[in-house]
Amino acid sequence: MALWAGRFSKEVDETVNAFNSSIAFDARMYEQDIRGSIAHATMLGDCGVIEQAESAAIVEGLRGILTDIQEGTLVFDPNAEDIHMFVEAELTKRLGSTGKRLHTARSRNDQVALDIRLYLRDEIAEIRALVLELAHTLCNMAQEHTETIMPGYTHLQRAQPITFAHHLLAYAQMLARDLERLDDTAKRMNECPLGSGALAGTTYPINRQQTAQLLGFDRPVANSLDGVSDRDFCVELACALSLLMTHLSRFSEEIILWCSWEFKFIELDDAYATGSSIMPQKKNPDVTELIRGKTGRVVGDLMTLLSMLKGLPLAYNKDMQEDKEAIFDAIDNVKLCVKTFTPMLATMRVLKDNMRKAAAKGFINATDCADYLVKKGMPFRDAYKITGTLVAKCIEQELTLETLPLEQYREMTDLFTEDVYNAISLDTCVKERSSEGGPSPKAVAIQLAQLRERLAQDAANE
Ligand code: ARG
Repeated sequence: MALWAGRFSKEVDETVNAFNSSIAFDARMYEQDIRGSIAHATMLGDCGVIEQAESAAIVEGLRGILTDIQEGTLVFDPNAEDIHMFVEAELTKRLGSTGKRLHTARSRNDQVALDIRLYLRDEIAEIRALVLELAHTLCNMAQEHTETIMPGYTHLQRAQPITFAHHLLAYAQMLARDLERLDDTAKRMNECPLGSGALAGTTYPINRQQTAQLLGFDRPVANSLDGVSDRDFCVELACALSLLMTHLSRFSEEIILWCSWEFKFIELDDAYATGSSIMPQKKNPDVTELIRGKTGRVVGDLMTLLSMLKGLPLAYNKDMQEDKEAIFDAIDNVKLCVKTFTPMLATMRVLKDNMRKAAAKGFINATDCADYLVKKGMPFRDAYKITGTLVAKCIEQELTLETLPLEQYREMTDLFTEDVYNAISLDTCVKERSSEGGPSPKAVAIQLAQLRERLAQDAANE
């Protein structure tokens, strides 16, 4: 018999029941649901809405249910409509009519709004710890590779030389912003919707400040209609997660390129790669491909949430039940991805020589050649043109700027002297790129120290 049996003369159709039910996916919020109910029952007792003795019995009953679920002696009833109904029905089964007092001055609308906030708050803390670990891993790798020269690209064409540390720290910066976005989301959503009731608050003398405080919120949600209909925090989190995944996906794409024979900048550890069922020579970067693939899925979750909300009148509508699968899917996949990505990265072998060889080709020092002339007084545009002509000469003779004879340099301008070879050597090119934020070992060391400080601050704020 349904909880609302009073109003109805028929049982709900079985298919509709199954269609309506959310227990299959909201049962995972059982701990948060019980935590919220304990705070609510405590407040009801303190405010005299129910007897103190009843409040105490309810709290104890709820604790018992929590333990039994955790120990596996109480299993979820798949026929229950949702986790809220399940816990309440179980409580009533255990306490009789006292259990029926729990739902006084509350609706499932403010209850579910509370549960998701509590659940996401816990999950955000887990995700931020994983992202922080990844950022630290990148910092440690960067420290090892401040002298590892590699080509930097634009349009996937060799552009200017950088260091591997510089490249790694670019991703670490993205992660630092991801951490800030997660914190920002957690901070803004830390308001308690409990006491919003179905939509219009309640006539009972409740104390919303107390429940907010008991549950670790900064304050109660200011407006009861907003309290039950707001899912902005799900959207914000899905957005922060989509961006985090986008960063992992871009990095994954590079790793996929880097472990191809065409690049061979890195070699994945055998534990983080897979073979082919037919081609014996294959070693595939499945992990990174899957991360790239799952990024689409997390972005899809964000779209699901936005499109679910866009047409909803105030306040609660059943459409909102669809929020959970989307945001849970995003959370689950992000956690899986970061957990796999971090050790994969930490164990991959960096093939420094190949990186350097790739940087030594492709006229990656052409800008430096032009800059050499500029430093001798020539306007940059003229120097650019001369260097372009020199590159064309090299290509014609199958030479590089390093091997082009000095006479040919001097045919263009006698500003060129023997020291040009030092100026365009790969090591000089990298060492001299020491502007703030640049790739030189010195500039990278500063970036690394500053980032580590920022991350330490971040960990302290946790
Ligand atoms: N399972 C529902 C959800 O996830 C709980 C709230 C139901 N409220 C209601 N009035 N039907 O949204």
